[in-house]
Amino acid sequence: MELETKRFYKFLAPRPTVIVTTVDREKNVNAAPFSFVMPVSIEPPLLAVALGHKGDTLRNIRDTGEFVVNVPPEKILNELWVCSKSHPRGENELKAAGLMAVDSEKVLAPYIRECIAWFECLMENEQELGDHVLVVGRVVHAMVRNDIVRKDGNMDLKKAKILMHIGGSKFAVAEKEITVKVEK
Ligand SMILES: Cc1cc2nc3c(=O)[nH]c(=O)nc-3n(C[C@H](O)[C@H](O)[C@H](O)COP(=O)(O)O)c2cc1C
Repeated sequence: MELETKRFYKFLAPRPTVIVTTVDREKNVNAAPFSFVMPVSIEPPLLAVALGHKGDTLRNIRDTGEFVVNVPPEKILNELWVCSKSHPRGENELKAAGLMAVDSEKVLAPYIRECIAWFECLMENEQELGDHVLVVGRVVHAMVRNDIVRKDGNMDLKKAKILMHIGGSKFAVAEKEITVKVEK
């Protein structure tokens, strides 16, 4: 079947989903989930998130130049969903969701204790693209929960149980790993 072109992203799915934490000028904490997210450079370490024009996340990043990308596990799906609702400006979504904010190393925005990986970022660049704004962040500090790192340096999917966004309220959990046969 043909697909309405604007629905393409529904089939570039499921997408890894993150919760971006920021603070406003008064240090009020904001948290919201995003799945239009991708690595863009390894050295220097850069990632990009496409943010809606009107959101608090974009405004806070523009005001402070900082944000944290938190990788949530399946366990906190309901809490992630609470963070996705529009809350009055300045209201702390982490408190509303019952998630714990912990001080970051290099940025003012806190990270979320219940997540499994955390990337503290400084805004490197932004570009308005269509109905989103692509924000590029430089990862200045990165952490990961010990038990989800395998000996080969990759993520242990069975332990991490990361959330992937299909669309709307539908998610997948990435758990099945397969290995391609490599000729020697
Ligand atoms: C799983 C999930 C993924 C989302 N991904 C994006 C995204 O990539 N970009 C975006 O602008 N909004 C995305 N949203 C919607 C935002 O989370 C939502 O608009 C939120 O209220 C924005 O919060 P803010 O105003 O605090 O920035 C997503 C929502 C969910 C539930």
